[in-house]
Amino acid sequence: MPHADTVQAIRWENKQLQLLDQRLLPHKTVYLEFDGVVVVAEAIRDMVVRGAPAIGITAAYGVVLAARARFAESSANWKALIEADLQTLAQSRPTAVNLFWAIECMREVITGLQGDPEPALLAEAKKIHSNDIAACRCMGERGAALIEQPCAILTHCNAGALATGGYGTALGVVRAGFSAGKITHVYADETRPWMQGARLTAWEMVQENIPVTLQVEGAAAHLMQQGKIDWVIVGSDRIAANGDVANKIGTYGLAILARYHGVKFMVVAPTSTVDMNIVCGEDIPIEQRSADEVLSLAGQSTAAAGATAWNPAFDVTPVALVDAIVTERDVVLAPNKEKMAAMMENI
Ligand code: MRU
Repeated sequence: MPHADTVQAIRWENKQLQLLDQRLLPHKTVYLEFDGVVVVAEAIRDMVVRGAPAIGITAAYGVVLAARARFAESSANWKALIEADLQTLAQSRPTAVNLFWAIECMREVITGLQGDPEPALLAEAKKIHSNDIAACRCMGERGAALIEQPCAILTHCNAGALATGGYGTALGVVRAGFSAGKITHVYADETRPWMQGARLTAWEMVQENIPVTLQVEGAAAHLMQQGKIDWVIVGSDRIAANGDVANKIGTYGLAILARYHGVKFMVVAPTSTVDMNIVCGEDIPIEQRSADEVLSLAGQSTAAAGATAWNPAFDVTPVALVDAIVTERDVVLAPNKEKMAAMMENI
């Protein structure tokens, strides 16, 4: 089995996009191949690939596939035709701004292109991919440097190698912090309903011999009350201009608990996750997913017949509850609108 740090959720091989089917982890390591944009959008929506940076990178490669098909269809008119494909990708999931950011990066390249678009677009997609890995490594070091003494941490969902180009955001800090002797133990929320913590975060940690203990989300308050952790460390799907943070449903509750118990709260995300066009968290679109995901587990119904379910995939943590936002550009302590603007200047 591959080492989780080197495992690639996203690969470009033989002129095709390959995605590790994260729905099958940790039991099976299966790569699916994609040669068209519609199936790439479906893969994002259906959680074959997930995690904000990974969704953006996947969309970038999706644009390469779309351009190939549209150029073959009409070398004169492909730029007009591809707009529908960009829309299809943009409609796959609404919350992670990395998706829209990556589509915009690709659109800018499209504007200046002449002739066969594939080489230039592939180069851009690969750049987005490799920049994300570099950003994760940088954030890992910066985040780990904030931790003053060896401690245990709690994380939520999966913000690891699987959710990014590689290495991870929150789990990048864990990787760097564990190597430096600052993080001794990881508590991972199992993260209903998709179980990203149980299936993905625990898998990444076990691969690297980083001690990991799973818990149901409801155990977090008790864990903090017992003084077992110093930090909560999470990723993000979108950070508003004022520093409000959208992340996996349940993150907001952890932030409230952390503040009450004197536990620090760190958000780790690349600048491609920061949306300066969104003033505050209230305006971040929150994905609502199917009730079936809550009413069942691994395809088995678990709820009383006739019950309904509410399934928001993300929530918003107000910036006042965040102690640090770590990006590849800077570490923003006690973030606010002014500090976020300074960090994002000239991007
Ligand atoms: O629904 P998911 O699995 O795509 O949600 C992912 C998260 O909430 C992650 O914490 C976030 O995207 C950051 S990934 C580096």
